[in-house]
Amino acid sequence: MQKQISGFSKLSKEAKIDWIVSAFFSDDDNVRTTLKQYWNTNQKLQELHDDFIENTITNYYLPYGVAPNFVINGKDYIVPMVVEESSVVAAASLVAKFWSTRGGFKATVISTKKIGQVHFMYDGNFKDLETYFSNKKEDLYKVTESITKNMRKRGGGILDIELRNKTTDLENYYQLHVTFDTQDSMGANFINSCLEAIANEFKKDDIQVVMSILSNYVPECLVRAEVSCKVEELYAENAEMYAQKFKQAVQIANVEPHRAVTHNKGIMNGIDAVVLATGNDFRAVESGAHAFASKSGKYKSLTNCEIKDGVFKFWIEIPLALGTVGGLTALHPLAKLSLQMLQNPSAKELMMLVAVAGLAQNFAALRALTTTGIQHGHMKMHLSNIIKQLGATASEKEYLMNYFADKQVSHSAVVEAYNELKK
Ligand code: MEV
Repeated sequence: MQKQISGFSKLSKEAKIDWIVSAFFSDDDNVRTTLKQYWNTNQKLQELHDDFIENTITNYYLPYGVAPNFVINGKDYIVPMVVEESSVVAAASLVAKFWSTRGGFKATVISTKKIGQVHFMYDGNFKDLETYFSNKKEDLYKVTESITKNMRKRGGGILDIELRNKTTDLENYYQLHVTFDTQDSMGANFINSCLEAIANEFKKDDIQVVMSILSNYVPECLVRAEVSCKVEELYAENAEMYAQKFKQAVQIANVEPHRAVTHNKGIMNGIDAVVLATGNDFRAVESGAHAFASKSGKYKSLTNCEIKDGVFKFWIEIPLALGTVGGLTALHPLAKLSLQMLQNPSAKELMMLVAVAGLAQNFAALRALTTTGIQHGHMKMHLSNIIKQLGATASEKEYLMNYFADKQVSHSAVVEAYNELKK
């Protein structure tokens, strides 16, 4: 059987599946059943999802959960999260409740600038290039006028176009570094359209445009979220000692990249889940966040902690390019619903909400790591998954959940207890 095909995208969904099943699954009919059981019976809804990408053959479900009791800048929120990791929503909910009685989360947007670049090669005299650029600058704005018209009406648009000499990094390399305000949209299409128009107007015989594209590194699209309370309000016992351990955990992530990556991964557990639920681009957010974490030349923690005059303070600063209009936010019914659940936030509010989700997740992880250890909570959440895998009945499940209420959970311990029960 051939494992290469041309014209695949033109086949119907059924025909695509048939070909895959015969080429890669020895005609196993179970594969068809598995794929088709996720087709939505609502034809219109299925077609909507089919059209998001090319060659859709089924839908891939992820759980959509909610974390209630978030208080952010004095306002109450229930936060939608799309994530497969069992402990993430539970941790967010616990931490939201915890801080709701300690003043809640405070968040501020520091800046909202987005960036795009026209990368080009030029081997002439830099002074001539500068003169050409300053003579052209007006026209560069002009050619984008039809694209920026609506955005300008909403208060956004192109903020600046700069010529940057990058020849010390790469021979003949220059760029037009363009800054944008995209208001409530993430702005990727808007930025890229502007850049292509600018590049087209800018190029001439001795300027070779290599590419025009937005940057997902947006250190000036920055948000800060923080929590603080008296040290003695943090823990029931040994508050000072545990607060110090918590702070040391953050300090370790600041000096040790191996730890920093895991520390930040925990933050992204919360961030990505809300970014996904609201139909935003989590890959853009991920790459921008990790670049920001390395801005000093060393990969560091995205959060910080301070204990001063008996007050514990914990905060995050993170670049987040998010939208609440356009893109998937308008197309995906659940993304739309998530935004409604968040009381139709502006992009700035969403930046604050997402930063808070990241901070909350990091708080949960560090609190667990520096006290009971992470496996305690994780394995509790994992317990029901293991029980499910074993095919336990409802009453067997109840017995096992009770049995492990005060015992260490591990895969083998659950299997053993289950087998014992079966006897
Ligand atoms: C697991 O998904 C995330 C953690 O490893 C984060 C951390 O170690 O801080 C628990």
